[in-house]
Amino acid sequence: MNTFYIETFGCQMNAHDSEKVIGTLLSQGYRQVGKPDEADLVLYNTCSIRDKAEQKVFHRLQEFKRHNQGKVFGVLGCVAQQEGERIFERAPHVSLVAGSASYSKLPQMLVQLESGNRRVTGLTFDNDQAFETPFTRRDNPHRAYITIIEGCDKSCAYCVVPFTRGPERSRTSESVLHEARELARMGYVEIQLLGQNVNSYRDPSPAGWDFARLLRAVGEVDGIRRVRFTTSHPRDFVKDIVDAIDENPALCNHVHLPVQSGSSSVLNRMQRLYTRSEYMRRIEWMKNARREISITTDIIVGFPGETEADFEQTLALLEEVEYDSLFSFKYSRRPSTAALDLADQVTEEEKTRRLTILQEKQRAIQIRRNSDLVGQVEEAFVEGYNQATGQWIGRTTQNRTLNFVHPHHAAPGAEATLAGTFWNVRVTRAGPNSLAGEVLG
Ligand code: 5AD
Ligand code: SF4
Repeated sequence: MNTFYIETFGCQMNAHDSEKVIGTLLSQGYRQVGKPDEADLVLYNTCSIRDKAEQKVFHRLQEFKRHNQGKVFGVLGCVAQQEGERIFERAPHVSLVAGSASYSKLPQMLVQLESGNRRVTGLTFDNDQAFETPFTRRDNPHRAYITIIEGCDKSCAYCVVPFTRGPERSRTSESVLHEARELARMGYVEIQLLGQNVNSYRDPSPAGWDFARLLRAVGEVDGIRRVRFTTSHPRDFVKDIVDAIDENPALCNHVHLPVQSGSSSVLNRMQRLYTRSEYMRRIEWMKNARREISITTDIIVGFPGETEADFEQTLALLEEVEYDSLFSFKYSRRPSTAALDLADQVTEEEKTRRLTILQEKQRAIQIRRNSDLVGQVEEAFVEGYNQATGQWIGRTTQNRTLNFVHPHHAAPGAEATLAGTFWNVRVTRAGPNSLAGEVLG
């Protein structure tokens, strides 16, 4: 075995885990290839947040069921943790099943695979350390993820994450800051702090820093121009985080604060640990900040027992907050979760109807809000170049896409010249999901 292929599903935590897994494999002498056909070892880093995400890996595995061409297959991530050894029964050609808490044992697991063991597992949470490795192979040369906390101690009634990622484990502030400084030294300009619930970060070293303290310190690392963080939980989101953003422009003025529902009674049954008005208080902190903080969220429609009146409260909340963007999902029943067997499941048709209405409402809000930006100048961080439109793909501190033309850098294939740089851009056009503009001469 010397070549591997990996495909990643799910959230940024998974994307970053894959960067660490790739780094570890490369350090063990493996070579990464771009197609499963070319690989001796085929890995899927999986997501199980909703049923659809979970099904994807089984579809992929199905393709190789009959003729696996002597390859070794591994299932990593959340489906691995959730399904465990049952995966060997469902897909007998799989030889490795490992959850994220076991990746530090990957080198040993590879040795077992190499020696012909066809049932290798890493499924325990006995490791109370976050997974740190010097071998991370980062995808993007300018923007880097740093995990600050893994796992989740909440128990939202719909959510499988506490089961797939285990209990919370924070990294020491010293190790996070060391990584941030190292990244700055290597030329990274943007850092994204990751965790299932970054707001419950608690430094395990005697310094005992909370999240706001860590955020401030990362924002002060020389060379780091932008710091983002995700995801926040409203219950643990404190005003000090808003104050930190107000103090330092390197901290991006964007907060993703998942609300899930605008109805306090649904929130209560979801075990979200806040009411609508407590959530709105956090929104007020942000609206009263000196900097204009962009707010985005996640919504679930059709949670068991969600009535039409509950749903209308969610629609009203969208108007009240005026989110800049949102991710919306139909409720999906997940194994082991408290809501699995709740009565009053909402029909699939009704969930689809509510999702459509919600998305249309949000689209109108985004068109309105984005049009207000026409004429303004925003700083864009260049992420790439779109050959088809001849525009540079930029991102604003508020996390909006801002594509722009540059009179002196219009040649196709010239990406390397602008990617990773910052430009002041005047917004000339606005759509629901992005802005377009011209660089200031
Ligand atoms: N069904 C639908 N959406 C879910 N999410 C989490 N669990 C479920 C589920 N069982 C959504 C939440 C969360 C986002 C990452 O995924 O909105 O914030
Ligand atoms: Fe999916 Fe959640 Fe696992 Fe991320 S942590 S991959 S969203 S189930």
